[in-house]
Amino acid sequence: MTALEVRGITKAFRTLKAVDEVSFTVEHGAIYGFIGPNGAGKTTTMRICATLELPDRGDVFVDGVSVLDDPRRARKKLGFMPDTYGAYPQTTIREYLDFYARAYGLAGKARKATVDQVLAFTSLAELDHKLIHTLSKGMKQRLCLAKTMLHDPSVLILDEPAAGLDPRARIELRELVKALAAMNKALLISSHILSELAEMCDGVAVIESGKLLAQGRVDAIQKRLQPHHTIWVRALCAPDALEKALLEEPDVSNVRAERGGFGFDYTGDDEARARMLARLVQRGLQPVEFAGGEVKLEDIFMSLTEGKLQ
Ligand SMILES: Nc1ncnc2c1ncn2[C@@H]1O[C@H](COP(=O)(O)OP(=O)(O)OP(=O)(O)O)[C@@H](O)[C@H]1O
Ligand SMILES: [Mg+2]
Repeated sequence: MTALEVRGITKAFRTLKAVDEVSFTVEHGAIYGFIGPNGAGKTTTMRICATLELPDRGDVFVDGVSVLDDPRRARKKLGFMPDTYGAYPQTTIREYLDFYARAYGLAGKARKATVDQVLAFTSLAELDHKLIHTLSKGMKQRLCLAKTMLHDPSVLILDEPAAGLDPRARIELRELVKALAAMNKALLISSHILSELAEMCDGVAVIESGKLLAQGRVDAIQKRLQPHHTIWVRALCAPDALEKALLEEPDVSNVRAERGGFGFDYTGDDEARARMLARLVQRGLQPVEFAGGEVKLEDIFMSLTEGKLQ
């Protein structure tokens, strides 16, 4: 069953359409990035998924449970980490988690075991006696994630979890997210740090002014926007010989000298590409480096969105 299915949701605030007919799905074990400029409708979409906001139209299904028909059951299956959260400053980490574990109906040994488990998972166990107002931003984000996991939800919706984190904390968060996906949970994550999302996401949804502009695997979206790959090759032979050979190849265009080798656009598939490399070798050109350009989420973002604020 699909872990999270967003089906045609629309939400207006007065005349402003914050979310306009948005649909996408996230499978179990998948990490889905949600990107778009400020005010695009990400938080509103996520809040609707988390039963905190009602859509004007459409519905969201969490493990098949409708957030409109059965919000209580849907809430048991999902964990939501908001972009800002109110904690009680004079409580300790452990008290805070214990409080929420009670709210989720956990009691006795099971409650302590669960709190210990999420403390260990988020590396907060050693700090469990610390007061919340003394925590750094990264520790607070961890605590918020720990709280989100208490009831072992199968779908996690994280609204800008990496905001304000230093590079180490971001890498650690990424590892936590991957570990959650490996536990077969579905994750929907919004972020403005695109390089980070690209590294961990199985797919992305791009939204602007409430409308979904694209969704799917990053490389597939990239292919649609730009049907050729960029390849860069360096060989031990004379540069002229390499350039001439490339120009004679089918599917190759826009050959240009780059970083001591040649970059070019390539429209062939992987097998044709392997054959091309074999031909370069057979012709005695001695290729030593042959690399495809990486798919950049930034490029996708910039070519899809217009930067309109609403
Ligand atoms: N409660 C509300 N009342 C009125 N307008 C709202 C409300 N919540 C959101 N909006 C508007 O809806 C639009 C979408 O906002 P939303 O917070 O979903 O954007 P976002 O993609 O999360 O942006 P950001 O990247 O800045 O977090 C914005 O124009 C915002 O001003
Ligand atoms: Mg937001």
